[in-house]
Order: sequence, then C-alpha cells, then structure tokens
Amino acid sequence: MQFYHILVNKEHRLGREDCPADLEEAMICFAPETEPGKRLLRKEAARNLKEMFQRAEEEGLYLAGVSGYRSYERQEEIYQNSLLTKGKAHTEKYIAPPGGSEHQTGLAMDVSCQEMDYELEEEFEQTEAGIWIQKNASLFGFILRYPKGRENITGYAYEPWHIRYVTKDLAFYLTKMNLTLEEYWAY
Ligand code: DAL
Ligand code: ZN
Repeated sequence: MQFYHILVNKEHRLGREDCPADLEEAMICFAPETEPGKRLLRKEAARNLKEMFQRAEEEGLYLAGVSGYRSYERQEEIYQNSLLTKGKAHTEKYIAPPGGSEHQTGLAMDVSCQEMDYELEEEFEQTEAGIWIQKNASLFGFILRYPKGRENITGYAYEPWHIRYVTKDLAFYLTKMNLTLEEYWAY
C-alpha cells in the first residue's frame, strides 16, 4: 500500500494490518480540539498539504484539517456507529466500510473552515475555502476524490471536503481529463 496511486474503495479494500510506515503529523491548522491521531498523514502528503495551506493563507484563506489518517479499527467503529445512528442508506453513501476507507492509506484529509464551523457538509463547496480547494488542490498533488455527478462511479455521495494525495503529475492529469481514480484504474 506504499504507492501514491493506490485505489481504495468498497471493492478494493485494505487489510486490518495495513498501516503506512511513514505517517507523521501534518503541520497545518486543524479544527479546534482535533485529536493527535487524526492529524497524521504520510510524509509526502503531509509536506504537500502544508504547502497548500501556506499558499491559501498567503491568499488570505484559512483552511482547517479535520480528519486525516484512520486505522482499520477506527473506521470499523465509525461505520458501526453510523449504521446504528444514521441507518444503512446514509452510511453506504457517506461512510466507507472497514478496510474500504482511503483515510487508512494516510493519503486523505477532510478539510473545512471556520465559516463552516469546521463541519463537513456539502455547503463547504460554496465557501471561499471550498472554491479555492476546487481550483488549487491539484497544484499540490491532491484531487477531490468524490466529485459531484460521479456518485455511481466512486460509490459515495459528493464530498467537497475530502481531498486525496495522488502526486502532482497524476492530480494534474486527472483534473485536466476530469477523471475519477476509479476511471483511471479502469483504463
Ligand atoms: N467518507 C469517506 C468515503 C470515508 O469514509 O472514507
Ligand atoms: Zn474523508
């Protein structure tokens, strides 16, 4: 699981033991009271995310990390909890099953902003921060992993807050060609 193009979704799952070897704390602004365990990303993703947040700040925008790396066990808890509290339909749209979350790769970060009260909601796409991310994430090697209108391909609802590191070359290519990671892997 150490390569940056890795595809993780409902069909392509990681194992309970899979954990990246190079996790480190991303040196970015996080939502208030974000636990240390949620601040981790793989080294290269963390470095690029820091550059992205710095560039946003230079342009007067304050992004906030909300949730990065998650273990298999943590995803299992989130998934079970969501089934109980939100039901199956909602859970299948928004929450990956254990092993099926790319947060387990250490390459994904959920991002929000103060204006959103640091929540992960669809309205984030209309905030200045959300618009900035749509325009600029690929310059730093990230893609919006669950785009609008591609729910049938990605298997998840639109998530304007979930960005995934894939390297600058691939992010540029996928963004330019308007492709999801599933489509890239299918060709
Ligand atoms: N929200 C995404 C799909 C996840 O749970 O990994
Ligand atoms: Zn996410």
